[in-house]
Amino acid sequence: MNAAPDVIVRLFTPADLIPCTEVERAVYGSGAYSTYFFRQLYDLFPRLLWVAEDRRMGKIVGHLCAAIGQGGQTGWMLNTAVLAHYRRQGVGRRLMEQGMAELRAAGVQRVLVTAEPENEAALRLYEKFGFQPVRLEPDYYGDGCDRLVLECRVMQAEVTQQEGS
Ligand SMILES: CC(C)(COP(=O)(O)OP(=O)(O)OC[C@H]1O[C@@H](n2cnc3c(N)ncnc32)[C@H](O)[C@@H]1OP(=O)(O)O)[C@@H](O)C(=O)NCCC(=O)NCCS
Repeated sequence: MNAAPDVIVRLFTPADLIPCTEVERAVYGSGAYSTYFFRQLYDLFPRLLWVAEDRRMGKIVGHLCAAIGQGGQTGWMLNTAVLAHYRRQGVGRRLMEQGMAELRAAGVQRVLVTAEPENEAALRLYEKFGFQPVRLEPDYYGDGCDRLVLECRVMQAEVTQQEGS
């Protein structure tokens, strides 16, 4: 379902650096990625950085960051963020569809993502794309919080949302 008809999903450009950083701060506060991070990720993986833009408001409202590990076999979903006002309208799903399609096209065999075990929204979203928990890593970021690592086997799972899931 697309309940946010004014929101388009497109590739990131350098003009989105500051708006994306602002979305990060709004969503993650002190845990936000910096402008430097976005710039360097764009230099490394220009097709793995996607934004959601409200065309009517002229505003970036979400983004997705992904990467590919050394050897090219493992993709990482680094971050999916949508401003609170735009959630539950299919924006995160549309960002994920693009990110997963790019990782698949790049030939990765699996995609990993981490999430807080109590982050219901993220876990349900990733589940829809075939991710399953593989382990719990204590103190993953050194902040005292544990993170679930979830995996999607790209060759075995459909990367687009399953009908009726
Ligand atoms: C996770 C996040 C990106 C989801 O974005 P979104 O645009 O609201 O997601 P969508 O509307 O596309 O939802 C897609 C599916 O995800 C699941 N989902 C999303 N939010 C959910 C919630 N609050 N509770 C339960 N399931 C949820 C549902 O299965 C949903 O499908 P449905 O609406 O048909 O039921 C958003 O909640 C967010 O930015 N959270 C804060 C940042 C964050 O935690 N990111 C993940 C880091 S690991």
